[in-house]
Amino acid sequence: MIAPLLGLLACAGGDDTGAEASRWLLPLPDWLPEPAVPEDNPATPEGFAYGRHLFYDPALSGNGTQSCADCHEPARAFTDGEITPVGSTGDTIPRNGLALVNVAWNGTYTWPNPLLTTLEDQLLVPMFAEHPVELGMTGNLDAIRARLEAEPRYAELGAAAFPDADPFADENLVRALATFTRGLISSDSPYDRYQYGGDAVAMSGEARRGMSLFFAEKTECYHCHGGVNFSVSFVSAETTTLPEAFFNTGLYNVGGTGDYPAPNTGLYEFTGDPEDMGRFRTPTLRNIALTAPYMHDGSVATLDDVIEHYNRGGRLIEEGPNAGDGAENPYQHSLVRPMNLTDTEKAELRAFLESLTDETFLTNTDYADPWAEGDTAP
Ligand code: HEC
Ligand code: HEC
Repeated sequence: MIAPLLGLLACAGGDDTGAEASRWLLPLPDWLPEPAVPEDNPATPEGFAYGRHLFYDPALSGNGTQSCADCHEPARAFTDGEITPVGSTGDTIPRNGLALVNVAWNGTYTWPNPLLTTLEDQLLVPMFAEHPVELGMTGNLDAIRARLEAEPRYAELGAAAFPDADPFADENLVRALATFTRGLISSDSPYDRYQYGGDAVAMSGEARRGMSLFFAEKTECYHCHGGVNFSVSFVSAETTTLPEAFFNTGLYNVGGTGDYPAPNTGLYEFTGDPEDMGRFRTPTLRNIALTAPYMHDGSVATLDDVIEHYNRGGRLIEEGPNAGDGAENPYQHSLVRPMNLTDTEKAELRAFLESLTDETFLTNTDYADPWAEGDTAP
């Protein structure tokens, strides 16, 4: 079972009033709206427990060498610290790993893809993709099933999660992993305790001054990183339309033509529309201090460098194949422009971003490796 976090969480239980029953049966603080959940995959504690075991199990990869957690480590808010990770068979994945924090509310999944609107669809990529290979399950499903069937814990976990279906069928592996990922919820950072928990001293004065900057026209950050999840890419059970959330922040301007280096051209890769060059989905900033390096290709090393990028109104690359002034990129969003922050203001902005680090999330035993010695959770 999933223990309540510091009394903040209340279970959004089933609805027996005759209206549509809730498909969210995992813990949720009352200030977060219920996430949208596919009809055929209710978010149950049993699905979460099964998915958690699969997430940490290298048996799930084709050659038995890699688990989801190799690229998504809990202590780094489920990123891996790499610029770009390497899959189970040695392929380099062209983009920086994304944090798995409150992804239940993402409007779309991955940095550039506008078509992946559910976790179930997104997970087909790390599980089954062949170019590049991540877990490499394609062509190895029989061997993977045999490994899972040989592990006694899965018989019970799988039957509890899918009492009326084959728990080892690939679509049910996807469903359980989606439920686990959906249930990774951060809601107890100093900012959350200040903003939603009424704890006036949870944030330092410096972090509060940084918060004022973040939510002001001087920096414009909140226009794109707004809302409870610090991203306009936000959808809940009540939402009916997808928000506009892909932007070019002026990281590149290769050759002065506005280009981003291949293969990471952003939304353009999917639409072919020149206006979409360099537009990526706005990521959440929750636990951002732990997820370096930054941006879709991991090309920005530190939070200070990110702040410098925005303060300049775009990144200048002086030499090499990617040389160009991002501030002059014709497709850059107009809200990213020089802001002349003082050193004190930059430090305040960083302190605010650091106040989004949620120790409760990072150390939550319900999210940790169930195969580790001493673990007692189901
Ligand atoms: C080889 C490293 C690697 C492995 C293994 C891996 N991932 Fe990822 N994951 C990534 C990278 C890199 C991205 C960003 C991909 C992109 O933008 O195209 C990502 C993105 C995601 C996202 C999208 C998050 C968002 O905010 O859009 C989810 C969800 C996810 N991974 C879950 C998983 C799960 C579950 C597994 C195991 C089945 C897994 N990943 C295995 C590297 C990996
Ligand atoms: C026009 C919309 C927009 C504005 C304004 C904006 N951002 Fe961003 N932010 C983005 C997008 C889009 C990305 C991803 C860009 C990429 O990878 O190419 C991003 C990336 C980031 C990242 C890196 C996230 C990661 O996981 O690697 C940080 C940190 C960040 N922004 C902080 C800020 C701060 C602080 C401000 C205000 C000074 C700000 N942003 C203003 C849209 C915006």
